[in-house]
Amino acid sequence: MPKLTIEGGHTLSGTVTASGSKNAALPILASCILLDGQSTITNIPYLKDIVIMLRVLNILGLRAEYHNNNTVKVWNQKKIKHIAPYDLVTSMRASFFVAGPIMAKTGYAKIPLPGGCCIGSRPIDLHLKGFKALGASINIEHGFVELKAAKLVGTRIYLDFPSVGATENIMMAACLAEGETIIENAAQEPEITDLANALIKGGAKIKGSGTSIITVYGVRSLKGIEYSVIPDRVEAGTLLIAGAITKGDVTVEKVNNNHLEPLNQKLIEAGLEIKQGINSTRVIYKGVLNAVNIETLPFPGFPTDMQAQIMALLCTAKGTSVIKETIFENRFMHAHELKRMGAVIKTENHHAFVYETEHLSGAEVKITDLRAGAALILAGLVARGHTTVYGLKHLNRGYDNLPQKLRSLGGILFV
Ligand code: EPZ
Repeated sequence: MPKLTIEGGHTLSGTVTASGSKNAALPILASCILLDGQSTITNIPYLKDIVIMLRVLNILGLRAEYHNNNTVKVWNQKKIKHIAPYDLVTSMRASFFVAGPIMAKTGYAKIPLPGGCCIGSRPIDLHLKGFKALGASINIEHGFVELKAAKLVGTRIYLDFPSVGATENIMMAACLAEGETIIENAAQEPEITDLANALIKGGAKIKGSGTSIITVYGVRSLKGIEYSVIPDRVEAGTLLIAGAITKGDVTVEKVNNNHLEPLNQKLIEAGLEIKQGINSTRVIYKGVLNAVNIETLPFPGFPTDMQAQIMALLCTAKGTSVIKETIFENRFMHAHELKRMGAVIKTENHHAFVYETEHLSGAEVKITDLRAGAALILAGLVARGHTTVYGLKHLNRGYDNLPQKLRSLGGILFV
């Protein structure tokens, strides 16, 4: 089984570059179903999840391939097929982003139900609520969702929860609907704005992305784009925490500081110094790390995708931190593995209480999900002795060469 061993106790310092955002690239690639002709998408991270999305697009009739490690070219000239492949959609939930585009483009989509994952049941009811409101008829049986819509007509859609995926899927479908669609209580994550900007380059008429009210005016067709994806705020945040947890001094370049604000404010509250350049953020350890309280919330609140990583950091803080996870129902699994490294954490439903501990000690640990994997590696950087992390397949889905980036900052990691 592939594993990664980390030698703890080395202070990280220096400069590293963030990759493009996985969670922006995936919906933008799915949106190429709507874009006639050729598209070139740059600043794409080199990840397993992206490879899976490219395979889905090729099965649907597009030609989509990495042109080099960070550029994807897509040719959309043939008739789009209606059925997305079961094995791929269930192996990568974000493949469900093709549902809205296929339905809008062809009038019929048959997509496997994506199913849950270890952090939660991951329902799609809000996606379907939006599709139905746009005029689609929905049939769920044999593990598939069938969407039929001879014509989509714009309407008002209220999201009970500002779901990122539902906002993206509905926004993509609405681009080819007749008339105006208003999405209320829309998600405001930077990845939504990035998708909207990509679609606008293709001729879509979208206003309000990044706010809770998004308005889409349908058009008859969209054309291929050249577009560069935003930096990955979660990878950048993970690298900043690597600097903080090892009491170092790390600068992450090619970031969007606005996207890092929720994390940066918490790092400052914990006693770290944050210095921002035009597109860089630097974290400097100043001799103390205080406990802080965290509540994960939809953007611009503290991101749930950084919860595991900051929990690892707070295991080394002075005092007791309280972490409340409000987005997913089961996103504390990393706590069990951190406790095997000597962390003192008590979890109760949506709360985790992280107590002061003398030090973390290296151990053999198992990755359960992508961000938990990052948290265990961060803990291994500061734990006494060696930490061996198993389950690297989860990590490689969402981080573009994280071990190498940590080595470039002085971390000692080997396979
Ligand atoms: C996106 O997932 C991200 N994935 C997740 O990142 C991220 O954690 C999440 O947004 C929240 O920010 C991608 O962008 C590919 P949601 P998504 O729909 O769209 C409930 C990572 O590590 N909900 O905003 O699936 C749901 O149960 C991944 O990179 C419904 O109830 O997230 C959850 O509690 C993990 N009905 C909450 O909303 C729905 O129809 C947030 O889900 C949809 C969602």
